[in-house]
Amino acid sequence: MRLLITGGAGFIGANFVHSSVRVHPEDSLTVLDAMTYAGSRESLAAVENDIRLVQGDITDAELANKLVAESDAVVHFAAETHVDNALADPEPFLRANVIGTFTVLEAVRAHGVRLHHVSTDEVYGDLELGNARRFTESTPYNPSSPYSSTKAASDMLVRAWVRSYGVRATISNCSNNYGPYQHVEKFIPRQITNVLTGRRPKLYGSGTNVRDWIHVDDHNSAVRRILADGQIGRTYLIGAEEERDNLSVMRAILRLMDRDPDDFDHVADRAGHDLRYAIDPSALYDELGWAPKHTDFEDGLRATIDWYRDNETWWGPLKDATEAKYEGRGQ
Ligand code: NAD
Ligand code: DAU
Repeated sequence: MRLLITGGAGFIGANFVHSSVRVHPEDSLTVLDAMTYAGSRESLAAVENDIRLVQGDITDAELANKLVAESDAVVHFAAETHVDNALADPEPFLRANVIGTFTVLEAVRAHGVRLHHVSTDEVYGDLELGNARRFTESTPYNPSSPYSSTKAASDMLVRAWVRSYGVRATISNCSNNYGPYQHVEKFIPRQITNVLTGRRPKLYGSGTNVRDWIHVDDHNSAVRRILADGQIGRTYLIGAEEERDNLSVMRAILRLMDRDPDDFDHVADRAGHDLRYAIDPSALYDELGWAPKHTDFEDGLRATIDWYRDNETWWGPLKDATEAKYEGRGQ
């Protein structure tokens, strides 16, 4: 299969490329990535001879058309992804997530190419703390942030292009990923690299907010299952049933790094901070026979800490600028 992977130099996309090279050497892979602050050539250095890397923007219709025409399927990861950045400046999110997805949709429509659109559980808004409700495929959309509203808009465009134009697309909405190559702006790598650089970790508010964690390789194996056997027009929710509050994750990181579990700062909370996300992945388990492999969160966290310890050359150049940005926001 000739696969076009948008956003393949970002966190999840790069891990998707790595696992595809490993597990599906028969595929021919093209990455289209604008190399924003979140994209990294180094993330693909180990597989650079196995792929074609095109630096370009998904909103460039001519380029998107050309690359889509040369592909059998598109896996669309490219997006602006950080909630705090969206709160500070939403415009790039509208451009990349809404216009970008529109441009990809028009290209797959023109060339009859299969699309898998990668989205987020944040489109459903948040759940209350302390109850048993979880998101399902029929939960109404209710996004809270500029980031999640642009992802919700992109999902709506995909649904409309399936219904109106018969585009062969599937959508997945996944929970919070962790693992190697995640930008140090995100919660888990930020705290690990704060410890590694002698900074104090930073917890927003009281840390009661809950996220549902999944290892990036499990997210990507589910995307592969959906790409192979998902029903066109369907939305699949991807999750590994690993709900944790932020305070517990913070303490686990500190404990695994041999630090006092209370050795962190409470900082200004995120505006409109979503309380809890939780995915009910039973449709994916039952229909496509998928299951996560990384079922011990602390094992996954330990391996992730080891990866950041061993790969300072990858994240080191990003760290000071990222922390300066946070400092400016009181976080
Ligand atoms: P990331 O920010 O690490 O990577 C995004 C990549 O997209 C970067 O390489 C960036 O250069 C590229 N990009 C951004 N705008 C572009 C444009 N206009 N044209 C071409 N490339 C562009 O993000 P990630 O965490 O890897 O997320 C990938 C996808 O998965 C996103 O669509 C995100 O919404 C979704 N998602 C992420 C998570 C998570 O926990 N990280 C969970 C569920 C869904
Ligand atoms: O749920 C899926 C989403 O997960 C993806 O769609 C997003 O692209 C991805 O960024 C992520 O969004 P979150 O906002 O949940 O992730 P983030 O890593 O930014 O924060 C996780 C939690 O940790 C959140 O409750 C805010 C909190 N936090 C974050 C940072 C950066 C802190 O307490 N301290 C921090 O320093």
